[in-house]
Amino acid sequence: MTNNEQIRILGIETSCDETSAAVVEDGCRIISNIVASQIDIHKKYGGVFPEVASRQHVLSISPVIEEAMQKAHMSYDDLDAIAVTRGPGLAGSLVVGMNAAKGLSLTTGLPLIGVNHLEGHIYSAWLYGSEDKPPLTQPDFPAVALLVSGGHSEIILIQSHLHYERLGGTLDDAAGEAFDKVARLIGLEYPGGPSIQKAAVFGDPNRFRFPKSKLEGTWDFSFSGVKTAVLRKVRELQTEGMEELPVSDLAAGFQSAVTGILYEKTMDAARLYNARCIIIAGGVSANKALRELFENQSDFPLFIPKLSLCTDNAAMVGAAGYQRFIANKFDDLAMDVFPTWPLSRVSL
Ligand code: KG4
Ligand code: ZN
Repeated sequence: MTNNEQIRILGIETSCDETSAAVVEDGCRIISNIVASQIDIHKKYGGVFPEVASRQHVLSISPVIEEAMQKAHMSYDDLDAIAVTRGPGLAGSLVVGMNAAKGLSLTTGLPLIGVNHLEGHIYSAWLYGSEDKPPLTQPDFPAVALLVSGGHSEIILIQSHLHYERLGGTLDDAAGEAFDKVARLIGLEYPGGPSIQKAAVFGDPNRFRFPKSKLEGTWDFSFSGVKTAVLRKVRELQTEGMEELPVSDLAAGFQSAVTGILYEKTMDAARLYNARCIIIAGGVSANKALRELFENQSDFPLFIPKLSLCTDNAAMVGAAGYQRFIANKFDDLAMDVFPTWPLSRVSL
């Protein structure tokens, strides 16, 4: 621990298509956060190409870590631990971050902490920039978290730090995956979320009303129905001889259906469990329509990370790593990656 008792953690994230390293103080203050995105590389494949992703992580990981340390104006002596995403994610990508973390731990003597990528997304709600004013409040428990990314869509009840109960989740596509697939269907580029959001600005969400699958009596979601409904509508319009698809209206209708489902389920859970706040995290939490829905209609205190922290980054890994650090939960060099690792099976 450093002289003034602040705990500084180097976070490393390589679970999918962003190579990222960050230095985070006391689990909330971002000293540096470097994200090397591979989006432009994967765009031409219409999605993440796993082998290409891991090769790119190998190329980027050392310079990204070095840059994070330089931007933080710190040496390894100023740090207290190294936190690294252990899973879930692409095996070949996770291994690159894991090996970098182990190598650093070996040479510096800093302890290792394995972090679940999903808990990382949750803890992004505690983060703020070193230039920002510290927020007046931080999330309080019990909290209900809506975690919506390219690989996951879950509602999680958090009773206290590191205690997660998965209430429900998607039965088929993740919300971000649905955005990506529908974008491709209507001719928009990867990643689909930002493309659909952009197209929807000029669209009429009421021209095409897509079904909101309720799955009453559960906390689960299903997005395959709305995806298929968009596909059917596209085919119908094409059969009718429409040459140019009404992309904006289709995007707006789809976005409205998906954000509506997410909003209703999350609010029901927050009410039932008397949540002290709602946390929305993961790549899809960057969606403007989703944020506005909660901001304008929900009366629960809301914690949604700023846009740059919604998608994958290492600051969130440093933030979650801090909670494990103060709970004395360390890992060692024998730690392996977990490509599949539900939050409910994160051991304490
Ligand atoms: O959390 P993330 O960066 O990676 C995963 O862990 O999956 O999330 C990426 C996902 C992609 O599916 C992307 O289309 C979606 O987040 N996304 C959005 C927006 N920005 C990113 N979805 C809807 N609206 C957005 N503005
Ligand atoms: Zn993610």
